[in-house]
Amino acid sequence: MSSLTALVVCGLLYMLHWTYGSKSDCSFDANHINENTQAGKPHVLFILVDDLGYNDVGYNGQHHGSAMKTPSIDKLAAEGVILSNYYVQATCTPTRSQLLTGRYQIHTGMQHGSIHPCLPKCLPLDEVTLAEKMQETGYSTHMIGKWHLGHHRKECLPTKRGFDTYLGYYLGNEDYYTHYRNYAFGNYSFKGYAFHDDTSSSFRPAYEYTGQYATFVFTQEVQKIVKNHKSSKPMFIYLPFHTVHDPLQVPKQYSEPFKKLIPDEDRVTLAGMISCLDEAVQNITTTLKETGLYDNTIIIFSTDNGGPVTVAANNWPLRGAKATQWEGGVHGVGFIHSPLLPKEVQGTNSNAFIHVSDWFPTIVSSIAGGTLNGTKPLDGYDVWEAITTGKPSKRNELLHNIDPLYPHVPKNGSDQFSSFNTSLHAALRIGDWKILTGVQGFLDHKGRDTHNSYPPPESNYTAFKAVEPESKHIWLFNITADPNEWNDLADDNPTVVEQMLHRLQEYYLNMTPPYWPNRDPNCDPAKHEGVWGPWE
Ligand SMILES: *[C@@H]1O[C@H](CO)[C@@H](O)[C@H](O)[C@H]1NC(C)=O
Ligand SMILES: *[C@@H]1O[C@H](CO)[C@@H](O)[C@H](O)[C@H]1NC(C)=O
Ligand SMILES: *[C@@H]1O[C@H](CO)[C@@H](O)[C@H](O)[C@H]1NC(C)=O
Repeated sequence: MSSLTALVVCGLLYMLHWTYGSKSDCSFDANHINENTQAGKPHVLFILVDDLGYNDVGYNGQHHGSAMKTPSIDKLAAEGVILSNYYVQATCTPTRSQLLTGRYQIHTGMQHGSIHPCLPKCLPLDEVTLAEKMQETGYSTHMIGKWHLGHHRKECLPTKRGFDTYLGYYLGNEDYYTHYRNYAFGNYSFKGYAFHDDTSSSFRPAYEYTGQYATFVFTQEVQKIVKNHKSSKPMFIYLPFHTVHDPLQVPKQYSEPFKKLIPDEDRVTLAGMISCLDEAVQNITTTLKETGLYDNTIIIFSTDNGGPVTVAANNWPLRGAKATQWEGGVHGVGFIHSPLLPKEVQGTNSNAFIHVSDWFPTIVSSIAGGTLNGTKPLDGYDVWEAITTGKPSKRNELLHNIDPLYPHVPKNGSDQFSSFNTSLHAALRIGDWKILTGVQGFLDHKGRDTHNSYPPPESNYTAFKAVEPESKHIWLFNITADPNEWNDLADDNPTVVEQMLHRLQEYYLNMTPPYWPNRDPNCDPAKHEGVWGPWE
């Protein structure tokens, strides 16, 4: 048996060991797992950070001029497996929808943007969620943080979609202290309390947290759940932090140390929020260790999208930002940490091609030992073997998105590529190649164009500014050779462009149309005791 084959077989045996509790003679350190019992299944803590830019985590930032400091996160990452080739969606709701269903947005009608407070729409009710599968597999399931997958009907809420308990915000953009969310459209201007504490049978606004900084509340809630865990059931804890999304707010002691390091006031506050996040991760890890649960826990850490340069985040040297399909929007921060990982891969970087939709089958099947029955066709792949053995990922292709409702570029009559309407906002990766079409950047309020790459203001780097006509609407990059997308190869590779447009067209013809209803003023919290929540 070649050493590669041995590695693969060991990886498979290791997975079987987890899945079915069979003995393997490979040297992986999985002795903690109490075989053949529910209790033997590992706890899963999924930490999703909101709007954390590629260059805003310490372990990336230290190489790229960023002043952000995340020593605790860096340590967890360094002891685990850093996912250096990890992708998410370009904005909040889309990433959450794919994480919880394992399915592309073009298959759920969620192609277009994030759910606004008055949008009568939610993650389609006929989608099976990751939380439901974990419940079915014998897990208790807890969600703490930001939902952002719709709330106009009770059936849409987290505790109706597979979570036993829920504490947090149904929407996004809340004030971190008052927990109020303002929202205006047309002639309407709404304001409501947005913090909820739910079980499957009780739903209530959690006023007792008024005035408390959200990151502290979420952290304490996770610590409480961990400390109170007495049953033999394994736990799935989904922790989508509201931080470090705007509004930029943090207790002064966290931002103060950055004043002398960063010449931009907003970014000083962001640095403080990131420090506080780091402390939160540290506190939760400590509680896991103190309660003895740590040894049987898998921690997955992920951003939800690239950093919004409009609110001081940074993705340098990647091009673009949140809400674009450039790498700065979709190449995400991510790692996995656990003493249960094979010793061979602890402390390594994985270059496996992994996408947020891959967590669904990976967690349900390889980590929780469940079956994938009952879901609609998944777009995610089980990447456990790739992470734990260094074998290539099963994923070779990634549809970043096709969004027909995104602003179009005027169709260029002389367009030489015919199959896919290249005025549409879309992006696709196949192997090393990535194609982008349509409108892919915008000017922010500081006049920055998100077609470009911006270094952090605290560094000496010079921005990369693309020299290209405004009408440009097809780009092709070799991401492996040019991860920053500074070298467009579309003109030199017409055959590759043609092939990739052909593939985009196949996706386009099979897609579920995007669902984007009109906003409904009946959302008005004033009609519901001053609280945001279901109105239908
Ligand atoms: C908004 O208010 C203006 C001025 O009162 C009115 O003319 C307009 O019709 C209103 N628009 C809507 C959508 O109600
Ligand atoms: C972490 O724990 C310390 C000690 O209990 C506490 O003072 C601090 O506020 C906690 N930080 C967070 C973010 O939870
Ligand atoms: C999967 O199969 C199990 C066992 O037959 C069943 O209880 C469960 O409801 C199925 N799950 C789904 C989502 O269909």
